[in-house]
Amino acid sequence: MTLIRLTGVTKTFPAASKAAAPVVAVDDVSLAVAQGEVCGIIGYSGAGKSTVLRLVNALESPTSGTVEIDGTDITRLNERALRALRGDIGMIFQQFNLFDSRTVAKNVAYPLEVARRPRAEITARVDELLRFVGLADKARSFPEQLSGGQKQRVGIARALATSPRILLADEATSALDPDTTQEVLALLRRVNAELGVTILVITHEMDVIRTLADRVIVMEHGRIIEAGEVFDVLSAPRHPATRRFVASIIDDVPAGEQLRVLRERHPGRIVTFTVRDGDVTQADIFAALSSHGVRFELIHGGINDIRGRVFGHLTLALTGETDAVQRAIDAASAFAPLLEEDTRG
Ligand SMILES: Nc1ncnc2c1ncn2[C@@H]1O[C@H](COP(=O)(O)OP(=O)(O)OP(=O)(O)O)[C@@H](O)[C@H]1O
Ligand SMILES: [Mg+2]
Repeated sequence: MTLIRLTGVTKTFPAASKAAAPVVAVDDVSLAVAQGEVCGIIGYSGAGKSTVLRLVNALESPTSGTVEIDGTDITRLNERALRALRGDIGMIFQQFNLFDSRTVAKNVAYPLEVARRPRAEITARVDELLRFVGLADKARSFPEQLSGGQKQRVGIARALATSPRILLADEATSALDPDTTQEVLALLRRVNAELGVTILVITHEMDVIRTLADRVIVMEHGRIIEAGEVFDVLSAPRHPATRRFVASIIDDVPAGEQLRVLRERHPGRIVTFTVRDGDVTQADIFAALSSHGVRFELIHGGINDIRGRVFGHLTLALTGETDAVQRAIDAASAFAPLLEEDTRG
């Protein structure tokens, strides 16, 4: 069942000055997110990602097109219905956006106070949420006394206070170190798996997409340029901008200065092979090279695991008789896509 649906949505912001053109932040975007799904949105700065999230929770209204939540066109809601909608959509942010003057418990209680829930119910719900995010012992602390990861867990508890069906996350782990990021991602996985909350995440972090998202949408200049299963989009991106973006977050192919240093250090030919589950394994490549009597050394590379399926790149320095090296490369590249020499330009 589709929970979030955008159809032909365009969002234009007025020009900042008379000389400037209006900004088309979102340009004819259509997308659907199923109930229970975790969907990632990636893309360079200014691509329109945050604007899409703001359209989903009705903080912005589309210039044209429709935004539907569970079949209801939210651009036509009155104030009262909008408040109900916002209770059904939680949001977390890169900078956490906690109230510094409120305790942890009072931060989590805030959406329930706004919704005028009875005091006893609020107390019980806040307890339950703080236990869920593992911060029951911090109820009386203030945000400034917490680590970044703890602050984001408070942010998550607050976002879940009204039991929303949808959670929107805008770079929610970008301000955190890698270990803390993993903790918060594990919590978000529980939010999805145990509470059944549908999650839409914006990120530029490989780990977030890899470990959290089921599906990924790639945006550029306000448009969706690619979308699909995470493994497919990351391991075999079709659009050049997606390839550039994926290369920037994975960084397993040497380029530029890194490649120059490798060339200086290693004689012979330097080639990069693509390894992809279902297509070709490392063993296939090594066997093809060995069978031609070529010596090879692994000098760069990376293997990525997406829920048990692997893909990545192996950069090898090949030495031996010139013709044999060429034959070995031909043999290996017959099944493994080859990026020769200047791999990424
Ligand atoms: N309220 C606004 N008024 C005017 N222009 C805006 C407004 N909000 C966003 N924009 C513009 O719309 C475009 C898309 O912005 P948006 O914040 O959605 O991008 P983003 O993909 O989230 O980028 P980032 O990764 O930097 O957060 C940008 O050119 C931005 O300057
Ligand atoms: Mg943004």
